[in-house]
Amino acid sequence: MNAIQITGLYKQFSGKRMKKIDALKGLDLEIAPGEVFGFLGPNGAGKSTTIKLMMGLLRPTAGAAKIMGMDAGQTESRRSVGYLPENPAFYDYLGAEEYIAFVGSQFRMGKSLLARRSEEVLKRLELWDARKRPMRGYSKGMVQRVGLAQALVHDPDVYILDEPMSGLDPIGRALVKDIILDLKRRGKCVFFSTHITDDVEKVCDRVGVIVKGTLVALDRVENILRSGVEGYLIHLKMPETESFSFGGIELFRRTDSVSEYYVPCSAFNGFMGEVNRTGTDVLLVETKRRDLEDFFLALVKSAQGA
Ligand SMILES: Nc1ncnc2c1ncn2[C@@H]1O[C@H](COP(=O)(O)OP(=O)(O)OP(=O)(O)O)[C@@H](O)[C@H]1O
Ligand SMILES: [Mg+2]
Repeated sequence: MNAIQITGLYKQFSGKRMKKIDALKGLDLEIAPGEVFGFLGPNGAGKSTTIKLMMGLLRPTAGAAKIMGMDAGQTESRRSVGYLPENPAFYDYLGAEEYIAFVGSQFRMGKSLLARRSEEVLKRLELWDARKRPMRGYSKGMVQRVGLAQALVHDPDVYILDEPMSGLDPIGRALVKDIILDLKRRGKCVFFSTHITDDVEKVCDRVGVIVKGTLVALDRVENILRSGVEGYLIHLKMPETESFSFGGIELFRRTDSVSEYYVPCSAFNGFMGEVNRTGTDVLLVETKRRDLEDFFLALVKSAQGA
């Protein structure tokens, strides 16, 4: 069974003067248990709409979403999910601890389990010292961390997080990435949205790119990175007097005894053959690639132009 199953999901909003907005144009997506999935897209692409449909907070115009085999929005499916909304807003006269206790009680957690889990998540999200203070005095990053704490407290199998790193400083972002990797290690499924490719590159198994309500790419992160390899910068140890050239490969820089050659993928095997034939020492091979950011920007550009 898939942890998340989305079939033909479509959402049309009525905008001003009854203008129709197709926020999501038929999404099909399957996410396995234990998988970390990054849902990448620019502003207004339809990420939050998808997530709200998955949580049963919006009704689809067509199609369906299931979580752990149950229809989105059913009480049972809700229990198996930890959800972080886009702009978490809480009863701000409560402290984080009271709020977590309130959330836990909704999931019918026993008192002692709730107390233990509450302490765990508040400490993990570095909210323990502030736990009694009313949340109205919290900074933006602290509120975001309370949002994550309440998504984690009942230890569900599936996590649906709308921009979990948003509003966090680099230390907070690293903490959230660590938490996601921990969840993965424990076999949990995490689906999160972002528009920052770096967040995806470090933690995701697969990534889907959505632009203007349509999924324009879906692949394993490693495949995207591999397909982005354009060539290699090869450092060779060479006596100063000796020159080395192969098939018109450009000589980049020559220092005292090291030469750096830029070798495109297509010339790599031939170049290395020549290196072996001449018995030249290879000091370092650096991969030169288009990163996920380049891939994402190119996709968004071409899809937005379409
Ligand atoms: N309640 C609504 N009524 C009308 N239009 C809406 C509504 N909610 C979203 N939309 C429109 O649907 C589209 C997708 O919005 P959505 O919030 O899903 O984007 P997003 O990918 O989450 O963007 P962001 O990165 O800015 O959070 C946008 O054009 C938005 O204006
Ligand atoms: Mg959004």
